[in-house]
Amino acid sequence: MSEYLTTSQGVRLPDTDHSLKAGRRGPTLMEDFHLREKITHFDHERIPERVVHARGAAAHGVFVSYGTDLTRARFLAEEGHETEVFVRFSTVLGSRGSADTVRDTRGFAVKFYTDEGNMDLVGNNIPVFFIQDGIKFPDIIHAGKPHQDREIPQAQSAHDTFWDFVSLHTEATHHVFWNMSDRGIPRSYRTMEGFGVHTFRLRDAEGNTHLVKFHWKPVSGVHSLVWEEAQIAAGVDPDFHRRDLADSIDAGAFPEWELGVQVLPDDGTETFAGIDLLDPTKLVPEELAPVVKLGRLTLNRNPTNYFAETEQVAFHTGNLVPGIEVTNDPLMQARLFSYLDTQLTRLGGPNFTQLPINRPHCPVNDMFREGMHQSEIHEGVTPYKPNGLDDDRPLVDEDDGYTQTPRLVEGEVGRGNPVSFDDHFTQAALFYRSLTPVEQAHVAEAFTFELGKCLEQTIKERELAVLAHVDPALASIVAEGLGLAVPGGIPAVGDVEPSPALSQVVTVPGPI
Ligand code: HEM
Repeated sequence: MSEYLTTSQGVRLPDTDHSLKAGRRGPTLMEDFHLREKITHFDHERIPERVVHARGAAAHGVFVSYGTDLTRARFLAEEGHETEVFVRFSTVLGSRGSADTVRDTRGFAVKFYTDEGNMDLVGNNIPVFFIQDGIKFPDIIHAGKPHQDREIPQAQSAHDTFWDFVSLHTEATHHVFWNMSDRGIPRSYRTMEGFGVHTFRLRDAEGNTHLVKFHWKPVSGVHSLVWEEAQIAAGVDPDFHRRDLADSIDAGAFPEWELGVQVLPDDGTETFAGIDLLDPTKLVPEELAPVVKLGRLTLNRNPTNYFAETEQVAFHTGNLVPGIEVTNDPLMQARLFSYLDTQLTRLGGPNFTQLPINRPHCPVNDMFREGMHQSEIHEGVTPYKPNGLDDDRPLVDEDDGYTQTPRLVEGEVGRGNPVSFDDHFTQAALFYRSLTPVEQAHVAEAFTFELGKCLEQTIKERELAVLAHVDPALASIVAEGLGLAVPGGIPAVGDVEPSPALSQVVTVPGPI
Protein backbone atom coordinates (compact mmCIF):
# COMPACT_ATOMS: atom_id res chain seq x y z
CA MET A 1 0.00 0.00 0.00
CA SER A 2 1.25 3.48 -0.86
CA GLU A 3 2.49 5.68 1.94
CA TYR A 4 0.67 8.63 0.29
CA LEU A 5 -2.97 9.12 -0.65
CA THR A 6 -3.46 8.12 -4.29
CA THR A 7 -6.21 7.67 -6.86
CA SER A 8 -7.25 4.10 -7.61
CA GLN A 9 -4.71 4.25 -10.43
CA GLY A 10 -1.91 4.96 -7.96
CA VAL A 11 -1.44 8.66 -8.84
CA ARG A 12 -0.38 10.63 -5.74
CA LEU A 13 -2.72 13.42 -4.66
CA PRO A 14 -1.91 16.81 -3.14
CA ASP A 15 -5.60 17.72 -2.46
CA THR A 16 -8.75 15.68 -1.93
CA ASP A 17 -10.91 18.43 -0.37
CA HIS A 18 -11.44 20.85 -3.26
CA SER A 19 -12.82 20.10 -6.70
CA LEU A 20 -11.26 21.57 -9.84
CA LYS A 21 -13.09 24.77 -10.87
CA ALA A 22 -12.86 27.44 -13.53
CA GLY A 23 -11.97 30.30 -11.19
CA ARG A 24 -12.57 30.30 -7.42
CA ARG A 25 -16.28 30.93 -7.94
CA GLY A 26 -16.61 29.06 -11.23
CA PRO A 27 -18.32 25.83 -12.21
CA THR A 28 -16.69 22.47 -11.50
CA LEU A 29 -14.84 20.96 -14.43
CA MET A 30 -15.48 17.53 -15.97
CA GLU A 31 -11.72 17.34 -16.26
CA ASP A 32 -11.45 16.62 -12.51
CA PHE A 33 -10.85 12.86 -12.77
CA HIS A 34 -10.24 12.59 -9.02
CA LEU A 35 -13.61 14.16 -8.17
CA ARG A 36 -15.41 11.91 -10.66
CA GLU A 37 -13.67 8.74 -9.51
CA LYS A 38 -14.22 9.53 -5.82
CA ILE A 39 -17.93 10.24 -6.23
CA THR A 40 -18.51 7.38 -8.68
CA HIS A 41 -16.96 4.82 -6.37
CA PHE A 42 -18.96 6.12 -3.43
CA ASP A 43 -22.16 5.96 -5.51
CA HIS A 44 -21.62 2.21 -5.91
CA GLU A 45 -20.57 1.26 -2.36
CA ARG A 46 -23.77 -0.62 -1.56
CA ILE A 47 -24.80 -4.02 -2.85
CA PRO A 48 -28.36 -5.36 -2.53
CA GLU A 49 -29.11 -6.62 0.94
CA ARG A 50 -30.14 -10.25 1.23
CA VAL A 51 -33.76 -10.80 0.18
CA VAL A 52 -34.20 -12.53 3.58
CA HIS A 53 -31.83 -12.73 6.58
CA ALA A 54 -30.50 -9.25 5.69
CA ARG A 55 -29.63 -8.35 9.28
CA GLY A 56 -26.74 -10.43 10.57
CA ALA A 57 -23.52 -10.69 12.54
CA ALA A 58 -20.73 -13.19 12.12
CA ALA A 59 -17.49 -14.58 13.53
CA HIS A 60 -14.61 -16.86 12.61
CA GLY A 61 -13.81 -19.98 14.58
CA VAL A 62 -12.70 -23.56 14.63
CA PHE A 63 -14.54 -26.88 14.66
CA VAL A 64 -12.84 -29.85 16.35
CA SER A 65 -14.24 -33.30 15.60
CA TYR A 66 -14.90 -35.96 18.23
CA GLY A 67 -14.68 -38.60 15.46
CA THR A 68 -17.51 -40.76 14.10
CA ASP A 69 -18.12 -43.84 11.96
CA LEU A 70 -21.34 -42.37 10.56
CA THR A 71 -19.80 -40.50 7.64
CA ARG A 72 -16.71 -40.51 5.48
CA ALA A 73 -16.63 -36.68 5.61
CA ARG A 74 -13.13 -36.25 7.05
CA PHE A 75 -13.87 -33.12 9.07
CA LEU A 76 -16.34 -35.20 11.12
CA ALA A 77 -14.85 -38.71 10.82
CA GLU A 78 -11.33 -38.09 12.15
CA GLU A 79 -11.08 -37.52 15.89
CA GLY A 80 -9.30 -34.25 16.70
CA HIS A 81 -9.52 -32.96 13.10
CA GLU A 82 -9.61 -29.14 13.13
CA THR A 83 -11.55 -27.17 10.52
CA GLU A 84 -11.77 -23.38 10.15
CA VAL A 85 -15.33 -22.02 10.12
CA PHE A 86 -17.24 -18.78 9.52
CA VAL A 87 -20.64 -18.49 11.20
CA ARG A 88 -23.33 -15.88 10.41
CA PHE A 89 -26.34 -15.36 12.68
CA SER A 90 -29.30 -13.35 11.43
CA THR A 91 -32.92 -12.36 11.79
CA VAL A 92 -35.15 -13.31 8.85
CA LEU A 93 -37.53 -10.46 8.10
CA GLY A 94 -35.86 -7.19 9.12
CA SER A 95 -33.73 -5.05 6.84
CA ARG A 96 -29.97 -4.58 7.35
CA GLY A 97 -30.56 -1.73 9.78
CA SER A 98 -33.35 -3.31 11.83
CA ALA A 99 -33.18 -4.14 15.55
CA ASP A 100 -31.68 -7.39 16.81
CA THR A 101 -34.16 -8.35 19.53
CA VAL A 102 -37.36 -8.53 17.50
CA ARG A 103 -39.56 -11.63 17.67
CA ASP A 104 -38.42 -13.68 14.69
CA THR A 105 -36.66 -16.88 13.67
CA ARG A 106 -32.84 -16.60 13.73
CA GLY A 107 -30.51 -17.88 11.03
CA PHE A 108 -27.56 -20.01 12.11
CA ALA A 109 -25.39 -20.52 9.02
CA VAL A 110 -22.03 -22.28 9.28
CA LYS A 111 -19.39 -22.50 6.57
CA PHE A 112 -16.84 -25.24 7.23
CA TYR A 113 -13.66 -24.69 5.15
CA THR A 114 -12.84 -28.41 5.07
CA ASP A 115 -9.86 -29.95 3.27
CA GLU A 116 -12.39 -31.71 1.01
CA GLY A 117 -14.13 -28.45 -0.01
CA ASN A 118 -16.56 -26.02 1.58
CA MET A 119 -19.48 -27.52 3.53
CA ASP A 120 -22.33 -25.17 4.51
CA LEU A 121 -24.88 -26.05 7.18
CA VAL A 122 -27.49 -23.32 6.62
CA GLY A 123 -29.80 -23.71 9.60
CA ASN A 124 -32.08 -21.81 11.96
CA ASN A 125 -32.58 -21.61 15.73
CA ILE A 126 -35.97 -23.33 15.35
CA PRO A 127 -36.06 -27.01 14.34
CA VAL A 128 -39.06 -26.80 11.98
CA PHE A 129 -40.19 -24.50 9.19
CA PHE A 130 -43.39 -22.68 8.15
CA ILE A 131 -43.83 -24.44 4.84
CA GLN A 132 -43.44 -27.97 3.54
CA ASP A 133 -42.66 -27.01 -0.04
CA GLY A 134 -40.20 -24.32 -1.20
CA ILE A 135 -42.69 -23.07 -3.78
CA LYS A 136 -44.48 -21.32 -0.86
CA PHE A 137 -41.36 -19.39 0.25
CA PRO A 138 -42.13 -16.18 -1.70
CA ASP A 139 -45.67 -16.24 -0.22
CA ILE A 140 -44.69 -16.53 3.45
CA ILE A 141 -41.99 -13.89 3.01
CA HIS A 142 -44.33 -11.50 1.14
CA ALA A 143 -46.89 -11.94 3.93
CA GLY A 144 -44.31 -11.21 6.65
CA LYS A 145 -42.04 -8.50 5.21
CA PRO A 146 -42.93 -4.78 5.26
CA HIS A 147 -45.41 -3.80 2.61
CA GLN A 148 -44.83 -2.24 -0.76
CA ASP A 149 -46.88 0.87 -0.05
CA ARG A 150 -45.17 2.28 3.07
CA GLU A 151 -42.29 -0.11 3.79
CA ILE A 152 -43.13 -0.03 7.49
CA PRO A 153 -42.04 -3.11 9.39
CA GLN A 154 -44.58 -4.18 11.98
CA ALA A 155 -47.18 -1.84 10.48
CA GLN A 156 -50.67 -3.07 11.24
CA SER A 157 -51.12 -4.16 7.65
CA ALA A 158 -48.08 -6.46 8.01
CA HIS A 159 -49.67 -8.11 11.04
CA ASP A 160 -52.84 -8.70 9.09
CA THR A 161 -51.05 -10.29 6.17
CA PHE A 162 -48.77 -12.53 8.27
CA TRP A 163 -51.67 -13.81 10.39
CA ASP A 164 -53.91 -14.07 7.34
CA PHE A 165 -51.31 -16.34 5.71
CA VAL A 166 -50.53 -18.58 8.69
CA SER A 167 -54.18 -18.96 9.71
CA LEU A 168 -55.07 -20.09 6.19
CA HIS A 169 -51.91 -22.12 5.78
CA THR A 170 -52.05 -24.27 8.90
CA GLU A 171 -48.87 -26.24 8.19
CA ALA A 172 -47.14 -23.11 9.59
CA THR A 173 -48.69 -23.70 13.03
CA HIS A 174 -45.80 -25.62 14.61
CA HIS A 175 -43.21 -23.00 13.58
CA VAL A 176 -45.53 -20.18 14.70
CA PHE A 177 -45.75 -21.74 18.18
CA TRP A 178 -41.95 -21.77 18.46
CA ASN A 179 -41.90 -18.11 17.30
CA MET A 180 -44.52 -17.11 19.89
CA SER A 181 -42.58 -18.92 22.61
CA ASP A 182 -39.46 -17.56 24.30
CA ARG A 183 -37.41 -19.15 21.47
CA GLY A 184 -38.54 -16.25 19.27
CA ILE A 185 -36.62 -13.72 21.42
CA PRO A 186 -33.19 -15.23 22.23
CA ARG A 187 -31.02 -13.66 24.94
CA SER A 188 -28.00 -13.74 22.65
CA TYR A 189 -26.65 -15.60 19.65
CA ARG A 190 -24.36 -17.40 22.11
CA THR A 191 -27.33 -18.98 23.86
CA MET A 192 -29.28 -20.25 20.86
CA GLU A 193 -29.63 -23.80 19.65
CA GLY A 194 -29.20 -24.36 15.93
CA PHE A 195 -30.90 -26.92 13.69
CA GLY A 196 -30.28 -28.18 10.17
CA VAL A 197 -34.11 -28.61 10.05
CA HIS A 198 -34.17 -31.02 7.10
CA THR A 199 -33.25 -34.69 7.22
CA PHE A 200 -29.80 -35.33 5.73
CA ARG A 201 -28.16 -38.59 4.65
CA LEU A 202 -24.71 -39.54 5.97
CA ARG A 203 -22.66 -42.16 4.14
CA ASP A 204 -19.63 -43.98 5.58
CA ALA A 205 -16.57 -45.28 3.71
CA GLU A 206 -18.24 -48.68 3.14
CA GLY A 207 -21.34 -47.12 1.59
CA ASN A 208 -23.61 -47.62 4.64
CA THR A 209 -26.06 -44.77 5.13
CA HIS A 210 -28.05 -43.21 7.97
CA LEU A 211 -30.57 -40.41 7.97
CA VAL A 212 -29.76 -37.62 10.43
CA LYS A 213 -31.05 -34.35 11.86
CA PHE A 214 -28.30 -31.83 12.74
CA HIS A 215 -28.32 -29.95 16.07
CA TRP A 216 -26.09 -27.24 17.56
CA LYS A 217 -26.17 -27.24 21.38
CA PRO A 218 -24.83 -24.03 23.00
CA VAL A 219 -22.36 -24.87 25.77
CA SER A 220 -23.67 -21.97 27.87
CA GLY A 221 -27.26 -23.25 27.63
CA VAL A 222 -30.39 -21.90 25.95
CA HIS A 223 -31.55 -18.51 27.26
CA SER A 224 -34.20 -16.10 26.13
CA LEU A 225 -35.29 -12.54 26.87
CA VAL A 226 -38.75 -11.75 28.15
CA TRP A 227 -40.88 -9.58 25.87
CA GLU A 228 -40.44 -6.36 27.85
CA GLU A 229 -36.63 -6.78 27.81
CA ALA A 230 -36.70 -7.44 24.08
CA GLN A 231 -38.70 -4.30 23.40
CA ILE A 232 -36.54 -2.09 25.63
CA ALA A 233 -33.33 -3.52 24.13
CA ALA A 234 -34.66 -2.90 20.61
CA GLY A 235 -35.02 0.79 21.47
CA VAL A 236 -32.02 1.34 23.70
CA ASP A 237 -29.54 -0.84 21.81
CA PRO A 238 -30.74 -2.14 18.43
CA ASP A 239 -27.31 -3.82 18.07
CA PHE A 240 -27.80 -5.83 21.26
CA HIS A 241 -26.99 -9.28 19.79
CA ARG A 242 -24.31 -8.06 17.42
CA ARG A 243 -22.54 -6.22 20.24
CA ASP A 244 -22.82 -9.19 22.60
CA LEU A 245 -21.20 -11.52 20.05
CA ALA A 246 -18.32 -9.17 19.25
CA ASP A 247 -17.74 -8.18 22.90
CA SER A 248 -17.67 -11.75 24.15
CA ILE A 249 -15.05 -12.70 21.55
CA ASP A 250 -12.98 -9.57 22.30
CA ALA A 251 -13.15 -10.48 26.00
CA GLY A 252 -11.92 -14.02 25.32
CA ALA A 253 -15.23 -15.56 26.44
CA PHE A 254 -15.49 -17.54 23.22
CA PRO A 255 -19.00 -18.76 22.31
CA GLU A 256 -19.12 -22.55 21.96
CA TRP A 257 -21.55 -25.13 20.62
CA GLU A 258 -21.47 -28.89 20.27
CA LEU A 259 -22.61 -30.29 16.95
CA GLY A 260 -24.71 -33.44 17.15
CA VAL A 261 -27.01 -35.61 15.09
CA GLN A 262 -30.11 -37.63 15.73
CA VAL A 263 -29.39 -40.90 13.94
CA LEU A 264 -32.33 -42.54 12.14
CA PRO A 265 -32.36 -45.71 10.04
CA ASP A 266 -32.16 -45.26 6.26
CA ASP A 267 -34.57 -48.15 5.67
CA GLY A 268 -36.22 -46.80 2.54
CA THR A 269 -39.37 -45.52 4.31
CA GLU A 270 -37.99 -42.05 5.16
CA THR A 271 -40.14 -42.18 8.28
CA PHE A 272 -39.31 -42.71 11.94
CA ALA A 273 -41.82 -43.56 14.70
CA GLY A 274 -44.62 -42.48 12.39
CA ILE A 275 -42.97 -39.14 11.64
CA ASP A 276 -42.40 -38.29 7.98
CA LEU A 277 -38.72 -37.35 7.80
CA LEU A 278 -39.27 -35.41 4.56
CA ASP A 279 -41.73 -33.03 6.24
CA PRO A 280 -39.80 -29.98 7.55
CA THR A 281 -42.70 -28.94 9.79
CA LYS A 282 -41.99 -31.98 12.00
CA LEU A 283 -39.16 -32.71 14.42
CA VAL A 284 -38.07 -36.00 15.92
CA PRO A 285 -38.31 -35.79 19.74
CA GLU A 286 -34.99 -36.42 21.44
CA GLU A 287 -36.63 -39.02 23.70
CA LEU A 288 -37.07 -41.13 20.58
CA ALA A 289 -33.66 -40.41 19.04
CA PRO A 290 -31.05 -38.83 21.31
CA VAL A 291 -28.50 -36.39 19.92
CA VAL A 292 -25.09 -38.02 19.32
CA LYS A 293 -22.30 -35.44 19.68
CA LEU A 294 -19.88 -35.08 16.75
CA GLY A 295 -17.66 -32.15 17.69
CA ARG A 296 -17.20 -28.70 19.18
CA LEU A 297 -17.39 -25.28 17.53
CA THR A 298 -15.57 -22.31 19.09
CA LEU A 299 -15.95 -18.78 17.74
CA ASN A 300 -12.68 -17.00 18.52
CA ARG A 301 -12.14 -14.16 16.02
CA ASN A 302 -14.26 -11.20 15.02
CA PRO A 303 -14.40 -10.21 11.34
CA THR A 304 -11.96 -7.47 10.34
CA ASN A 305 -14.30 -5.95 7.78
CA TYR A 306 -18.08 -6.29 7.99
CA PHE A 307 -18.65 -5.79 4.26
CA ALA A 308 -15.87 -8.10 3.03
CA GLU A 309 -16.80 -10.92 5.36
CA THR A 310 -20.26 -10.77 6.95
CA GLU A 311 -21.97 -9.10 3.98
CA GLN A 312 -20.20 -10.91 1.15
CA VAL A 313 -20.28 -14.41 2.62
CA ALA A 314 -22.46 -16.68 0.48
CA PHE A 315 -23.96 -19.76 2.10
CA HIS A 316 -25.55 -22.42 -0.06
CA THR A 317 -27.33 -25.63 0.97
CA GLY A 318 -25.74 -27.29 -2.08
CA ASN A 319 -22.23 -26.79 -0.68
CA LEU A 320 -21.72 -30.37 0.51
CA VAL A 321 -18.69 -32.64 0.93
CA PRO A 322 -18.41 -36.40 0.27
CA GLY A 323 -20.33 -38.33 2.92
CA ILE A 324 -23.08 -35.71 3.47
CA GLU A 325 -26.15 -35.69 1.20
CA VAL A 326 -29.58 -34.08 1.04
CA THR A 327 -32.90 -35.94 0.95
CA ASN A 328 -36.10 -35.42 -1.04
CA ASP A 329 -37.64 -32.93 1.42
CA PRO A 330 -39.41 -30.57 -1.01
CA LEU A 331 -38.37 -27.51 0.99
CA MET A 332 -34.72 -28.50 0.77
CA GLN A 333 -35.04 -29.23 -2.94
CA ALA A 334 -36.17 -25.64 -3.63
CA ARG A 335 -33.45 -24.22 -1.40
CA LEU A 336 -30.86 -26.03 -3.51
CA PHE A 337 -31.89 -23.77 -6.39
CA SER A 338 -32.48 -20.52 -4.49
CA TYR A 339 -29.19 -19.65 -2.77
CA LEU A 340 -26.86 -19.68 -5.79
CA ASP A 341 -29.52 -17.95 -7.86
CA THR A 342 -29.98 -15.03 -5.45
CA GLN A 343 -26.23 -14.64 -4.93
CA LEU A 344 -25.69 -14.13 -8.66
CA THR A 345 -27.54 -10.84 -8.26
CA ARG A 346 -26.49 -9.95 -4.75
CA LEU A 347 -22.78 -10.50 -5.38
CA GLY A 348 -22.67 -9.37 -8.99
CA GLY A 349 -22.15 -12.42 -11.17
CA PRO A 350 -20.76 -15.92 -11.01
CA ASN A 351 -17.28 -15.31 -9.56
CA PHE A 352 -18.17 -14.58 -5.92
CA THR A 353 -16.61 -17.91 -4.93
CA GLN A 354 -13.27 -16.15 -5.49
CA LEU A 355 -13.93 -13.61 -2.74
CA PRO A 356 -11.64 -14.33 0.23
CA ILE A 357 -14.52 -15.18 2.58
CA ASN A 358 -16.05 -17.66 0.12
CA ARG A 359 -12.86 -19.19 -1.29
CA PRO A 360 -12.28 -22.79 -0.17
CA HIS A 361 -9.19 -23.33 1.97
CA CYS A 362 -8.26 -26.39 -0.12
CA PRO A 363 -6.93 -26.25 -3.71
CA VAL A 364 -9.50 -25.50 -6.43
CA ASN A 365 -9.16 -26.52 -10.09
CA ASP A 366 -12.49 -25.90 -11.83
CA MET A 367 -13.15 -25.25 -15.51
CA PHE A 368 -15.11 -22.02 -14.98
CA ARG A 369 -13.78 -19.06 -16.94
CA GLU A 370 -14.28 -15.33 -17.34
CA GLY A 371 -17.54 -13.64 -16.23
CA MET A 372 -18.09 -10.48 -14.19
CA HIS A 373 -15.41 -9.72 -11.60
CA GLN A 374 -13.09 -12.51 -12.71
CA SER A 375 -9.94 -12.07 -10.62
CA GLU A 376 -7.97 -15.15 -11.70
CA ILE A 377 -5.58 -14.88 -14.64
CA HIS A 378 -5.98 -18.32 -16.16
CA GLU A 379 -3.24 -19.54 -18.48
CA GLY A 380 -3.08 -21.89 -21.43
CA VAL A 381 -5.92 -23.29 -23.52
CA THR A 382 -9.50 -22.78 -22.31
CA PRO A 383 -10.37 -26.05 -20.52
CA TYR A 384 -12.81 -28.65 -21.84
CA LYS A 385 -13.42 -32.37 -21.33
CA PRO A 386 -12.86 -34.94 -22.71
CA ASN A 387 -9.48 -33.56 -23.66
CA GLY A 388 -6.78 -35.62 -25.35
CA LEU A 389 -4.31 -32.76 -25.66
CA ASP A 390 -3.93 -31.32 -22.24
CA ASP A 391 -5.15 -33.48 -19.35
CA ASP A 392 -3.87 -31.65 -16.29
CA ARG A 393 -7.20 -31.99 -14.53
CA PRO A 394 -7.72 -35.73 -13.90
CA LEU A 395 -10.89 -37.01 -12.25
CA VAL A 396 -10.65 -38.91 -8.97
CA ASP A 397 -12.03 -42.38 -8.29
CA GLU A 398 -15.66 -42.51 -7.18
CA ASP A 399 -14.52 -43.41 -3.67
CA ASP A 400 -12.61 -40.15 -3.34
CA GLY A 401 -14.96 -37.68 -5.02
CA TYR A 402 -18.51 -36.49 -4.33
CA THR A 403 -21.12 -39.05 -5.33
CA GLN A 404 -24.79 -39.42 -4.40
CA THR A 405 -25.95 -42.69 -2.87
CA PRO A 406 -27.86 -44.50 -5.62
CA ARG A 407 -31.58 -44.48 -4.86
CA LEU A 408 -34.68 -45.38 -6.79
CA VAL A 409 -36.97 -42.49 -7.74
CA GLU A 410 -40.33 -43.29 -9.28
CA GLY A 411 -43.85 -41.93 -9.21
CA GLU A 412 -46.47 -40.12 -11.20
CA VAL A 413 -45.68 -36.53 -12.06
CA GLY A 414 -48.02 -34.30 -10.04
CA ARG A 415 -48.17 -31.48 -7.46
CA GLY A 416 -49.81 -33.13 -4.44
CA ASN A 417 -48.30 -33.76 -1.00
CA PRO A 418 -48.01 -37.14 0.75
CA VAL A 419 -50.97 -37.68 3.13
CA SER A 420 -48.52 -37.74 6.04
CA PHE A 421 -47.96 -33.99 5.48
CA ASP A 422 -51.59 -33.29 6.47
CA ASP A 423 -51.14 -33.38 10.24
CA HIS A 424 -50.52 -29.72 11.10
CA PHE A 425 -51.34 -29.66 14.81
CA THR A 426 -50.01 -32.70 16.71
CA GLN A 427 -46.45 -31.46 17.04
CA ALA A 428 -47.52 -27.89 17.83
CA ALA A 429 -49.51 -29.38 20.72
CA LEU A 430 -46.53 -31.52 21.71
CA PHE A 431 -44.35 -28.42 21.84
CA TYR A 432 -46.89 -26.34 23.77
CA ARG A 433 -47.46 -29.09 26.36
CA SER A 434 -43.71 -29.45 26.89
CA LEU A 435 -43.48 -25.86 28.20
CA THR A 436 -43.62 -24.84 31.86
CA PRO A 437 -46.65 -22.81 33.00
CA VAL A 438 -44.61 -19.58 32.84
CA GLU A 439 -43.47 -20.38 29.31
CA GLN A 440 -47.04 -21.23 28.31
CA ALA A 441 -48.17 -17.88 29.73
CA HIS A 442 -45.55 -16.16 27.55
CA VAL A 443 -46.98 -17.96 24.50
CA ALA A 444 -50.51 -16.81 25.37
CA GLU A 445 -49.29 -13.23 25.89
CA ALA A 446 -47.38 -13.28 22.59
CA PHE A 447 -50.40 -14.51 20.60
CA THR A 448 -52.61 -11.93 22.31
CA PHE A 449 -50.15 -9.09 21.65
CA GLU A 450 -49.47 -10.01 18.01
CA LEU A 451 -53.08 -10.80 17.05
CA GLY A 452 -54.13 -7.64 18.88
CA LYS A 453 -52.25 -5.70 16.18
CA CYS A 454 -54.44 -7.14 13.41
CA LEU A 455 -57.19 -4.90 12.06
CA GLU A 456 -59.35 -7.64 10.51
CA GLN A 457 -61.50 -9.49 13.01
CA THR A 458 -61.95 -12.46 10.66
CA ILE A 459 -58.20 -13.07 10.73
CA LYS A 460 -58.14 -13.08 14.54
CA GLU A 461 -61.07 -15.48 14.62
CA ARG A 462 -59.48 -17.79 12.09
CA GLU A 463 -56.24 -17.93 14.08
CA LEU A 464 -58.23 -18.58 17.28
CA ALA A 465 -59.73 -21.59 15.48
CA VAL A 466 -56.20 -22.79 14.70
CA LEU A 467 -55.22 -22.37 18.38
CA ALA A 468 -58.29 -24.34 19.43
CA HIS A 469 -57.04 -27.24 17.33
CA VAL A 470 -53.78 -27.18 19.28
CA ASP A 471 -54.96 -26.35 22.78
CA PRO A 472 -58.54 -25.21 23.53
CA ALA A 473 -57.53 -23.64 26.86
CA LEU A 474 -54.89 -21.51 25.15
CA ALA A 475 -57.46 -20.46 22.54
CA SER A 476 -59.80 -19.32 25.34
CA ILE A 477 -57.12 -17.26 27.09
CA VAL A 478 -56.12 -15.53 23.87
CA ALA A 479 -59.76 -14.99 22.87
CA GLU A 480 -60.45 -13.36 26.22
CA GLY A 481 -57.40 -11.11 25.80
CA LEU A 482 -58.70 -10.05 22.40
CA GLY A 483 -62.25 -9.57 23.66
CA LEU A 484 -63.58 -12.24 21.29
CA ALA A 485 -65.32 -15.58 21.60
CA VAL A 486 -63.57 -18.81 20.69
CA PRO A 487 -65.17 -20.04 17.49
CA GLY A 488 -67.50 -22.97 18.27
CA GLY A 489 -67.34 -26.54 17.06
CA ILE A 490 -63.57 -26.81 16.95
CA PRO A 491 -62.30 -30.25 17.88
CA ALA A 492 -59.19 -30.46 20.04
CA VAL A 493 -55.97 -31.87 18.74
CA GLY A 494 -56.41 -35.42 17.54
CA ASP A 495 -58.12 -34.76 14.22
CA VAL A 496 -55.25 -36.69 12.78
CA GLU A 497 -54.17 -39.52 15.07
CA PRO A 498 -50.63 -39.02 16.38
CA SER A 499 -48.36 -42.02 16.17
CA PRO A 500 -48.40 -44.19 19.35
CA ALA A 501 -44.77 -43.30 19.99
CA LEU A 502 -45.46 -39.58 19.78
CA SER A 503 -48.37 -39.61 22.17
CA GLN A 504 -45.97 -40.84 24.88
CA VAL A 505 -43.61 -37.95 24.42
CA VAL A 506 -44.09 -34.63 26.11
CA THR A 507 -40.82 -32.78 25.60
CA VAL A 508 -38.93 -31.32 22.67
CA PRO A 509 -35.23 -30.73 21.91
CA GLY A 510 -33.18 -28.97 24.55
CA PRO A 511 -34.12 -27.09 27.72
CA ILE A 512 -35.53 -23.60 27.36
C1 HEM B 1 -30.82 -16.92 3.51
C2 HEM B 1 -31.94 -20.50 6.49
C3 HEM B 1 -35.65 -21.78 3.70
C4 HEM B 1 -34.00 -18.74 0.42
C5 HEM B 1 -30.83 -17.77 4.57
C6 HEM B 1 -29.94 -17.67 5.68
C7 HEM B 1 -30.24 -18.69 6.51
C8 HEM B 1 -31.33 -19.42 5.94
C9 HEM B 1 -29.57 -18.99 7.82
C10 HEM B 1 -28.90 -16.61 5.93
C11 HEM B 1 -27.62 -16.97 5.28
C12 HEM B 1 -26.58 -15.95 5.60
O1 HEM B 1 -26.34 -15.71 6.80
O2 HEM B 1 -26.00 -15.39 4.66
C13 HEM B 1 -33.05 -21.14 5.99
C14 HEM B 1 -33.69 -22.30 6.58
C15 HEM B 1 -34.74 -22.63 5.80
C16 HEM B 1 -34.76 -21.71 4.70
C17 HEM B 1 -33.21 -22.99 7.81
C18 HEM B 1 -35.74 -23.75 5.93
C19 HEM B 1 -35.56 -24.80 6.66
C20 HEM B 1 -35.47 -21.13 2.54
C21 HEM B 1 -36.23 -21.38 1.36
C22 HEM B 1 -35.76 -20.53 0.42
C23 HEM B 1 -34.71 -19.74 1.03
C24 HEM B 1 -37.35 -22.42 1.22
C25 HEM B 1 -36.20 -20.39 -0.98
C26 HEM B 1 -36.85 -21.31 -1.69
C27 HEM B 1 -33.05 -17.96 1.01
C28 HEM B 1 -32.40 -16.86 0.35
C29 HEM B 1 -31.47 -16.33 1.25
C30 HEM B 1 -31.58 -17.12 2.43
C31 HEM B 1 -32.68 -16.37 -1.05
C32 HEM B 1 -30.53 -15.15 1.05
C33 HEM B 1 -29.18 -15.73 0.69
C34 HEM B 1 -28.12 -14.72 0.35
O3 HEM B 1 -28.45 -13.67 -0.22
O4 HEM B 1 -26.95 -14.98 0.64
N1 HEM B 1 -31.66 -18.85 4.74
N2 HEM B 1 -33.73 -20.80 4.85
N3 HEM B 1 -34.55 -20.15 2.31
N4 HEM B 1 -32.54 -18.10 2.26
FE1 HEM B 1 -33.07 -19.51 3.50
